[in-house]
Amino acid sequence: MIIHTSMLAGIRLNEMPQKIMVIRNISKYYTVKGNGVFQASQRLSAVDKLSLEILKGQTFGLVGESGCGKSTLGKIMCRLEDPSCGEVYFQGEPVHSLRGNALRKKRHFFQPVFQDPFGSLNPRLHVFETLAEPLRLAGRASAIKDVLQLMELVGLGEELLFRYAHQLSGGQRQRLGIARALSVSPQLIVADEPVSSLDVSIQAQILNLFMDLQHRLGLTLVFISHDLRVINQVSDHVAVMYMGRIMESAPVSSLFSGPKHPYTWALLEALPRLKPGRGRKRAILTGELPSPINPAPGCRFYNRCAYRDEACRSYENELFTAAENHTVACRKAGTLERERPMNTC
Ligand SMILES: Nc1ncnc2c1ncn2[C@@H]1O[C@H](COP(=O)(O)OP(=O)(O)OP(=O)(O)O)[C@@H](O)[C@H]1O
Ligand SMILES: [Mg+2]
Repeated sequence: MIIHTSMLAGIRLNEMPQKIMVIRNISKYYTVKGNGVFQASQRLSAVDKLSLEILKGQTFGLVGESGCGKSTLGKIMCRLEDPSCGEVYFQGEPVHSLRGNALRKKRHFFQPVFQDPFGSLNPRLHVFETLAEPLRLAGRASAIKDVLQLMELVGLGEELLFRYAHQLSGGQRQRLGIARALSVSPQLIVADEPVSSLDVSIQAQILNLFMDLQHRLGLTLVFISHDLRVINQVSDHVAVMYMGRIMESAPVSSLFSGPKHPYTWALLEALPRLKPGRGRKRAILTGELPSPINPAPGCRFYNRCAYRDEACRSYENELFTAAENHTVACRKAGTLERERPMNTC
């Protein structure tokens, strides 16, 4: 059976939240070619000594600028990439070192949904085969009844059963990508920019689908996006990433009502306003995003921060607790005034 009754029960409100995934000190380095012909290879730091915890049944939003390491972290969570070092625990069990058969047995617990379902769907398979194949591989029956149940769950009509990916609309393809992820009864879904390639009206439908599924199935969802508005809409908890590190991590209401990190301020100020020209002077994020190749020691946000001082050069973004479940990677957090403009770098 595809949908377990335990999944349909969802999470009970009074239960103590369990940690479904714990990430400890994860780093991911890539070796990249140097610029010149005779340049030695260089080390690119995509994720840098990052730790976080994801609670069962929650939607964990991961936000940050392009290139900050969101997808790399998402792939490590789904074990599509090996971390260079550090540990990943899924329901208390270490999964970072799983290989071969042991990994295959666990993989269905954590499933990815990608931005571009076209790239991840086999163009030679129609909808039925796309959904029946993972069921077969997982050793489950692939009766048409199960496939239709999955299609209904994600809002795909029966008439699409024998259509190929190229015969579906963008929104339908994303629904199929989600159904395929759900086909193996995962407990954690990592959705990497799942709506950024869709029209705004379709985006809303897919976001609603994610929220509905999360609620009905008690799924844990990691939702990756560069768009804070989307993250605000779907998340229970948000982590703000910058150059491979977490800058701030908080329940969504705390992050939006009382952000503590200068980088979070800048991201929030960059959101379009309903009434332009009103309110506080805008903190504009200026300066170049530093290269992730051999980054300088110290706070990753140093060269773009208006509040920096010498001591920030030796501060490695260790997280401080600012409030309940609210951590921030700024050594000056709590002592800063948000009004100060950030265009002085
Ligand atoms: N296979 C790879 N080999 C070399 N470098 C890589 C590889 N994958 C990612 N990177 C680099 O790692 C860094 C983080 O990339 P990643 O794709 O995780 O960022 P992202 O936050 O998902 O960005 P975007 O919002 O554009 O999707 C980038 O500098 C990227 O160029
Ligand atoms: Mg990405």
